[in-house]
Amino acid sequence: MNFHFLLSNLGSPLIHMISWLIGLFLLLHHLHVIGLVLHVHHGRVHSLNLGHMGLNGTISPHLGNLSFLVELDLSDNNFHGHLPKELVQLRRLKLLNLSFNELDGEVPTWIGSLYALQNLSFHNNNLSGIIPLSKSNLSRLEILDLNDNLIEAIISREIGRLKSLKILEIAGNKLNGIIPNAISNLSSLEGLSLAYNSLSVRELVSLKINKE
Ligand SMILES: *[C@@H]1O[C@H](CO)[C@@H](O)[C@H](O)[C@H]1NC(C)=O
Ligand SMILES: *[C@@H]1O[C@H](CO)[C@@H](O)[C@H](O)[C@H]1NC(C)=O
Ligand SMILES: *[C@@H]1O[C@H](CO)[C@@H](O)[C@H](O)[C@H]1NC(C)=O
Ligand SMILES: *[C@@H]1O[C@H](CO)[C@@H](O)[C@H](O)[C@H]1NC(C)=O
Ligand SMILES: *[C@@H]1O[C@H](CO)[C@@H](O)[C@H](O)[C@H]1NC(C)=O
Ligand SMILES: *[C@@H]1O[C@H](CO)[C@@H](O)[C@H](O)[C@H]1NC(C)=O
Ligand SMILES: *[C@@H]1O[C@H](CO)[C@@H](O)[C@H](O)[C@H]1NC(C)=O
Repeated sequence: MNFHFLLSNLGSPLIHMISWLIGLFLLLHHLHVIGLVLHVHHGRVHSLNLGHMGLNGTISPHLGNLSFLVELDLSDNNFHGHLPKELVQLRRLKLLNLSFNELDGEVPTWIGSLYALQNLSFHNNNLSGIIPLSKSNLSRLEILDLNDNLIEAIISREIGRLKSLKILEIAGNKLNGIIPNAISNLSSLEGLSLAYNSLSVRELVSLKINKE
């Protein structure tokens, strides 16, 4: 699925909107899908929900032009390939849900600059690398769900910067490093899931002690 044809003609907001809606109509017609949820707020498309639609292909870099999006849900499809860096332009995003796809490559560093994010899920993809928190500014992030990927490390003191984090899920990955003590500085944390990794018991015990 390529969003190219959806997004030509970005002119005035009205033209933008009309071309968008026509594009969506063509898309739906083409795919014979129903259930698309588009929320419009003050005359602008505010959330794009294309979850559970059996879409495949790569995620188009042109999605980055929809800078007004507050919610983007592409969960439970068959998107593969890398996350296009153009998504960094989605500065208003509060929800990014790419769970249950087949995305691969490293979790990109630019994720850390989507500072409006509240809920972020990459659950069940093939994303690898080190969770890139060193330049992050995700002070509003409440849910970070990275379960069931190929992530190797969160060895980063900066995780303590996720001041609003309530749920941190990194189970079913390849974590083999030391859990940073900084996790014990996450004062809002309600749920932490680290099962099915290669962490040692000592690291887990030390984490518990720190938390108490
Ligand atoms: C998205 O914006 C870039 C400039 O930022 C432009 O070059 C590109 O053509 C736009 N894409 C679409 C599909 O309008
Ligand atoms: C996408 O799905 C269609 C229909 O299921 C299939 O024919 C096509 O090969 C798929 N394309 C990719 C890139 O997976
Ligand atoms: C984030 O998730 C929480 C808990 O499920 C929910 O209450 C909240 O509305 C979500 N926020 C967004 C922006 O989707
Ligand atoms: C991850 O990659 C493996 C090996 O290529 C593949 O078998 C598996 O289906 C992929 N999982 C996801 C969620 O994409
Ligand atoms: C993401 O989508 C999945 C599947 O649609 C859903 O189960 C999950 O709760 C969503 N996660 C967030 C953080 O919104
Ligand atoms: C972090 O984000 C906040 C908005 O949430 C912004 O005011 C602040 O300047 C940002 N800090 C950095 C270092 O980017
Ligand atoms: C926890 O927070 C305190 C106070 O903000 C700070 O001094 C300390 O270095 C932090 N600990 C870690 C492990 O980040």
